[in-house]
Amino acid sequence: MLLGYFLFGVMTFHLSGAQSEVSEVFAEAGSQAVLPCKCSRLSARIPAIIWRKADKGTVWRKEKSGLEFWGSDWLSKGNQRVRWPHYQLESGDFSLQINNVREEDGGVYSCRVEHGFQVIEKTVTLRITKVSVSSPAPIWGNDVSITCSVTPWPQGALVRWTLNDSPFEPRTMQTAVREKATGRLTGTWTCLVAYKDQEGRASATLSVKGVIHPPDDDAKVYAAVGSAVTLPCVFSPGLIPSDPLWEKLKPGYLYKPAPGRLPASFSASGPLSALASDQSARLNEVALEDEGRYRCSATIEGQRVTRNMRLVVAKVHSSAPSQNTSSVTLTCQLADTGEVTKYEWVHVIYDLNGSRSVGPILEGKSLSISTTSEGNRGEWACRFYGKDGLLGNVTYHVQQMSGLSGEKPGSVSHNTAAAVGLSFLLLVMLLILAQIYKNHQRRKGIFQYPALETIVHTVSNEREERERNTVKK
Ligand SMILES: *[C@@H]1O[C@H](CO)[C@@H](O)[C@H](O)[C@H]1NC(C)=O
Ligand SMILES: *[C@@H]1O[C@H](CO)[C@@H](O)[C@H](O)[C@H]1NC(C)=O
Repeated sequence: MLLGYFLFGVMTFHLSGAQSEVSEVFAEAGSQAVLPCKCSRLSARIPAIIWRKADKGTVWRKEKSGLEFWGSDWLSKGNQRVRWPHYQLESGDFSLQINNVREEDGGVYSCRVEHGFQVIEKTVTLRITKVSVSSPAPIWGNDVSITCSVTPWPQGALVRWTLNDSPFEPRTMQTAVREKATGRLTGTWTCLVAYKDQEGRASATLSVKGVIHPPDDDAKVYAAVGSAVTLPCVFSPGLIPSDPLWEKLKPGYLYKPAPGRLPASFSASGPLSALASDQSARLNEVALEDEGRYRCSATIEGQRVTRNMRLVVAKVHSSAPSQNTSSVTLTCQLADTGEVTKYEWVHVIYDLNGSRSVGPILEGKSLSISTTSEGNRGEWACRFYGKDGLLGNVTYHVQQMSGLSGEKPGSVSHNTAAAVGLSFLLLVMLLILAQIYKNHQRRKGIFQYPALETIVHTVSNEREERERNTVKK
């Protein structure tokens, strides 16, 4: 009788002790969950163990005899998801493993260990985390939602999101993120759920289909006058965009194309390009008037996707050296300087072997160089930088450095200007010559018929005389 009371007391003590120990376990759907159930050292005898799930009954049971039983819900088609690591028996670890957890596995579990008169009971709440996306590969511009779920939901938990391991901005504590699909949403989305001293996490990947390069509208492409440039338009790998189209947009309009005004040296890679996803175009020789906005578009899965970009043409302006100064000022000119943070000039030197090196770096947008120094002859390059580094460069060729001989430093644009001037002069001279010849011909024509002139003269004299006579009458 006394022993009975004692036993009852021991059991009550253990049971009440057990109730206070509720562990929290987070596991991502599809992963393995380990539900802990550890007891302090027990004797070498095998205890009876039973794992239950609050709403599903027995999960797994082991009797003192060593026989094991699995609950019917956990024995699906030979794929036994519940395991019990036998080797940990000696250490008093009766933790349960559940492989490939599903949302419906979430809930309250209990572990009960009976060892002689000792009964130990522990409770574990298993919470299944999962991130789901409305569409794993949405098309650029479409709505997309990424949702974090925890089953069962822990009341008072805090949610954070990371994208490719960096906090997602704007930060949100919402369980669902709703955005317009753009390239910046591509990557691994992880939802972090903090609850008590535990943190649950789940991830999903999203890959937005569309133009991946340039990644944003209004990207700037820099090119020096006369150079070749590629206007990028690369679609997501594996995509085969149909009806690709390049347009130059009307100046001042964001979306209005200026039809038929693609530059002369423009060439689109077209459908025969090695990679169908690459619809980049090329300008073989950039002219100043090619500056402006361009649009690349194509159809993916029945939806039109476009990307706008701006071609910024760079040139060097040189102040013509006047008679009394012996220096020239070179200025780096860009049609759009919004992104430019720094300019620098370097003198490019070719040695006898033809290898190239650059002189000291001279900071600044403009550069004044002496026109009398032989050492300044050759190629000068203006490099311009943005906050992420070099954007491009433009070069200027200083051909002849004699300020006195009257020959000014020339560049490609100067040569064209000179050629245009010369042709104009020739045209004017030709016109003058033509006029002189015409005048000459006319005079010659009149003197060919002197007799005719006399007759005309006589006729008019006679008429005058007749008129005079009629007045007298
Ligand atoms: C040209 O190359 C040779 C050997 O490669 C080298 O010895 C010489 O110094 C070079 N000359 C110049 C001007 O760099
Ligand atoms: C200018 O840019 C071209 C193309 O990126 C590069 O090859 C060249 O080295 C640059 N020149 C200078 C002086 O930086």
